[in-house]
Amino acid sequence: MAINLVNVGKVIGNPQTRILNNINLTIADGEFVSFVGRSGSGKSTLLYLLSSLDIASEGFVEIDGMKVSDLKPDDLYQFRNLKMGFIFQFHYLLAELTALENILMPARKTNQMKQKEGYALDLLNQFGLKGKEKRLPRQLSGGEQQRVAIARALIMKPKYIFADEPTGALDSVNAKIVIDIMTRVNQEQGTTVIMVTHDAGFAQLARKQIHLVDGKIV
Ligand SMILES: Nc1ncnc2c1ncn2[C@@H]1O[C@H](COP(=O)(O)OP(=O)(O)O)[C@@H](O)[C@H]1O
Ligand SMILES: [Mg+2]
Repeated sequence: MAINLVNVGKVIGNPQTRILNNINLTIADGEFVSFVGRSGSGKSTLLYLLSSLDIASEGFVEIDGMKVSDLKPDDLYQFRNLKMGFIFQFHYLLAELTALENILMPARKTNQMKQKEGYALDLLNQFGLKGKEKRLPRQLSGGEQQRVAIARALIMKPKYIFADEPTGALDSVNAKIVIDIMTRVNQEQGTTVIMVTHDAGFAQLARKQIHLVDGKIV
């Protein structure tokens, strides 16, 4: 199984602006791919198309053999919740929920809070957050908040992880921790990791680098 993009283009607005042009790309299961390129080159837009958060204007996207544009909204929602984890530059944790409750949010949607609690605590341990499960986001450092957000992305053991500049708001020590986690998840669990990054060094850790210039793969 794989994610397949066939002649994908994206135009938006009125008058129309072209953001992506004729993208053909296959990402096989278990790959670790990084997207690099200048700000404005279309990296985030491409990541959203790959991950079904956005719909192509031209061509089509297939995930595990299903055309994203053919899926019913409910099926798409279910598929995303079970199979995909998302990590962004800013963590979007819910301020009134504890670290543990934030991590369990995806499990709440499928009524699996109880079954998943052990794994959530396990992730907190692995990420150096032992004993901090009851803290609110504001009682954690930026690096710790991002690790909670990553644990939330991993709680359903997704097949795919999509990360848009996950280290963009972190210092170098915390950025390294985050990258190490992503590398480990890819190697140990075979999770497909697709990551947008500004950092050339981190991009090189991926087995495949995709360079975007003005909405095209070069
Ligand atoms: N919703 C939008 N409305 C208008 N322009 C947009 C929108 N989203 C993206 N763009 C434009 O599309 C281009 C690519 O954006 P983006 O994919 O965010 O690039 P990157 O992630 O590489 O910085 C940029 O020029 C950006 O300004
Ligand atoms: Mg971006």
